[in-house]
Amino acid sequence: MLNRRRLVVFLSLTTLLLLSSFSLTLCKKSSQNDNDDDEDLSFLEEPEDASTSHQAHANLPDLDQFGDDEEEDDDGDDFGDFSGFDPHSDEEFKEPEVDEKDVVVLKERNFTTVIENNRFVMVEFYAPWCGHCQALAPEYAAAATELKNDGVVLAKVDASQENELAHEYDVQGFPTVYFFIDGVHKPYNGQRTKDGLVTWIKKKIGPGVYNITTLDDAERILTSETKVVLGFLDSLVGSESDELAAASKLEDGVNFYQTVIPNVAKLFHIDPNAKRPALVLLKKEEEKLNHFDGQFVKAAIADFVSSNKLPLVTTFTRETGPVIFESPIKKQLLLFVTSNDTENFIPVFQEAAKLFKGKLIFVHVQLDNEDVGKPVADYFGISGNAPKVLAFTGNDDGRKFLLGGEVTVDNIKAFGEDFLENKLKPFLKSDPLPESNDGDVKIVVGNSFDDIVLDESKDVLLEIYAPWCGHCQALEPTYNKLAKHLRSIDSIVIAKMDGTTNEHPRAKSDGFPTLLFYPAGKKSSDPITVDVDRTVVAFYKFLKKHASIPFQLTKPTSTSKTDDSGSSDIKQSESSSTDVKDEL
Ligand SMILES: *[C@@H]1O[C@H](CO)[C@@H](O)[C@H](O)[C@H]1NC(C)=O
Ligand SMILES: *[C@@H]1O[C@H](CO)[C@@H](O)[C@H](O)[C@H]1NC(C)=O
Ligand SMILES: *[C@@H]1O[C@H](CO)[C@@H](O)[C@H](O)[C@H]1NC(C)=O
Repeated sequence: MLNRRRLVVFLSLTTLLLLSSFSLTLCKKSSQNDNDDDEDLSFLEEPEDASTSHQAHANLPDLDQFGDDEEEDDDGDDFGDFSGFDPHSDEEFKEPEVDEKDVVVLKERNFTTVIENNRFVMVEFYAPWCGHCQALAPEYAAAATELKNDGVVLAKVDASQENELAHEYDVQGFPTVYFFIDGVHKPYNGQRTKDGLVTWIKKKIGPGVYNITTLDDAERILTSETKVVLGFLDSLVGSESDELAAASKLEDGVNFYQTVIPNVAKLFHIDPNAKRPALVLLKKEEEKLNHFDGQFVKAAIADFVSSNKLPLVTTFTRETGPVIFESPIKKQLLLFVTSNDTENFIPVFQEAAKLFKGKLIFVHVQLDNEDVGKPVADYFGISGNAPKVLAFTGNDDGRKFLLGGEVTVDNIKAFGEDFLENKLKPFLKSDPLPESNDGDVKIVVGNSFDDIVLDESKDVLLEIYAPWCGHCQALEPTYNKLAKHLRSIDSIVIAKMDGTTNEHPRAKSDGFPTLLFYPAGKKSSDPITVDVDRTVVAFYKFLKKHASIPFQLTKPTSTSKTDDSGSSDIKQSESSSTDVKDEL
């Protein structure tokens, strides 16, 4: 359970943005141990059970754990747009025609030997049913062939067979790729193309920093490369060169050079009489030059390069997405504009960006780009065509704030400063407040969450659902019945929130439906996850046990009625609630 929860959280934040429609995509790892800590395992024996098919999923790609109703859904909810994100969408069982003669197959028993006997080994953990792995296979095989004379082994492990290896290397999704140098492994998160793999690996195994000894070399490099670092040193060997080489190993996307020749330095816009060591990062964009003025040690150099390698404003694309989110600068300002407005607002945004170099990343999202911009806008809850600026704290805590006024340099400047000083009020995705809200089940939206759910005087049970989610629909009659029974209890609120169009930092869902309980008087603590059978009786018992304010259903008839409906619900209930969840 825990593993899966961690995985889902990971997927919902990082994946949605980074990995969804973009080049890096993971297949979800079906955890096979989901049911281990459930008390009642009897449902495992029922063949038709939802959680059984879930288990089988690891090996049978056509078994759909989500049920049929969601498959047919195309009502344009947020997540439906992330078609590339759906781990099932490309899981047809193709037998790829790939010449993998240079890819080494590793098993439990020969894994260690191969790692120990080879200085450089890349290992891909894959699953046969995983579409993203199939897409990687030809690229991976071609990279293996290209690199075999460089002393690099490219290997693969079928993680659906080698469970222990997958566990040992903490494989959470497919493909997971590691690069081992002298037995020490680091993840590979670069592009899943032959060229991406080869460039990245060559950097890892190469000298790190290359010499420029002639003006011709310098000219050639300046014309052929879009982003370079040059160190202007007193000597091509020694500690400064070593620091530079070490920094280069920490930085994947930029090539590092060194020179001792003043005229070469000059071509790279370093004053030939400058005090050495000097270092510059050159980009073929506006704001081309960044001169380093820190201490000449690897960490500072790598940090400098990594912080400055992005342009003033980066347009969000499949390629730049990962680079944006891997930057050591986590805080971002995103400008959402349609192509019509780009010409007017990009210069404004660029102007503002100059004021925050090294502190904030400025990202341009093309609102009317269906492929990338639109899904990103939906994810952040940005609607309409008007230009908007949003501040985002990055994937780790994921708070966001919306610029209220017009998009001008002054407003962005003030907004950016407030953002850096944590003075802004978060922006929540929210439906409009419902016109009436006096049903048994209270409707919660992002903007009413504080008032309803965080009301200290109420014990609140909240269901976070998705309109398209089959398990949510199945739960609805039970949930309504429960709310009806408890309507007379003033201290208890039974509520629901559409998790696709509303959000709140205190409402973390790990799939749909998620049931959370917020006891009265304890609203600043985390809510209790409701992990009980989805029956009226079970919910009722849960509330009895956890409610801060004791309550009593007075009418004896209604009590016995609760029991009746409860037991029939138990019969209808297909399995323990913990596994009956539509995930994303
Ligand atoms: C590892 O063992 C498997 C199964 O015996 C074999 O197919 C594979 O070629 C071996 N790999 C190496 C590098 O020896
Ligand atoms: C750069 O020059 C130094 C000194 O001649 C030499 O030791 C080093 O191997 C050279 N580096 C490369 C990558 O050629
Ligand atoms: C852009 O402008 C053109 C012409 O004024 C208009 O037809 C089009 O709908 C606009 N597009 C957007 C996305 O606003």
